[in-house]
Amino acid sequence: MSPLYLLFLGPAGSGKGTQAEKILETFGLCHLSTGDILRGAIRKETLLGKKAESYVEAGDLVPDSLIIDLIKETLTPDRIEKGFLFDGFPRTLEQGEKLKELLLDLGISLTHIFYFDISLEKTISRIAGRRICVDCNKIYHIDYNPPKTCGEDCSGNFIQRSDDTEEKVRHRYDVFEEQTVPLLSFYGEDLLSIDADLTPDEIHRELCLAIEGTKV
Ligand code: AP5
Repeated sequence: MSPLYLLFLGPAGSGKGTQAEKILETFGLCHLSTGDILRGAIRKETLLGKKAESYVEAGDLVPDSLIIDLIKETLTPDRIEKGFLFDGFPRTLEQGEKLKELLLDLGISLTHIFYFDISLEKTISRIAGRRICVDCNKIYHIDYNPPKTCGEDCSGNFIQRSDDTEEKVRHRYDVFEEQTVPLLSFYGEDLLSIDADLTPDEIHRELCLAIEGTKV
C-alpha cells in the first residue's frame, strides 16, 4: 500500500487536532501540526519561537516565509516513507502554492484533503472548554471529553492555551475566513468537506471511510 499524505483544513476549534489523534492511531502516520511545532518552539525559546510568539499570542498568522522553512525541515525521508498528516498547514494561498512545489519536487502528492466545516458559535463553545495535557498535548473538553490522566508519564496537569479566549477565537475565525478560505477553491474538487458538528466518533468514521475507500 502506498503511504497516505493527508491534509486537515478548518477554523480553530473545528476538531482537527482531536481527529488527528485518532487518525494517527488508526493509520500510523506522522503528525505535522504547525501549531504544535510553533508552541514547542515558543516554550523552548528557540529563534523560531521568538519570531513567532507575538503572532501566535495575537491569533494572527505567522509569516509565510517562517512556516515554509519549517515545513521544508519536517519533510524528511522517514516521514515521507511512513506517510503524514498536515494539521493546520497550509493556511494561505502562498503556503498552498509552495507546498504544491515542494511535493512535486519530492515526487509525491496529497492523497486526501479534508475541510472541517463548522460555525463560529460552535467553535467558541468548544474552545472555551478545551483543556490540554501539559505533558503529552492530548486534547480534552470539560463537557464532551473530561480530562483524565492520559499516560504513565503524564502528571495530570491540564492547561488552557493562551490564545483560547473568546476574543482571540473570534479574531482567529476572521483570519481563517480572510486568509485560509481561498484555499478551498485552490483545492477545488480534491477537497472533501466534513460536517465537523457531528460527534468525534462519527467524524472519525467518515474520515476512515473516505480514506479506506480510496486507498491504493
Ligand atoms: P493551531 O494550533 O493550528 O490552532 P487552530 O488551527 O487555531 O486550531 P485549534 O488547535 O485551536 O483547534 P482544532 O481544530 O485542532 O480543534 P480541537 O481538536 O483542539 O494554530 C495556532 C496558531 O499558530 C495560529 O493562530 C497561528 O498563529 C499559528 N499557526 C499555526 N499554523 C500556522 C500556519 N500554517 N501559518 C501561519 N501561522 C500558523 O478541538 C477543540 C475542542 O473541541 C477540544 O476541547 C475538543 O475536545 C473539542 N471537540 C473536538 N471535536 C469535537 C466534536 N466533534 N464534538 C464536540 N467537541 C469536540
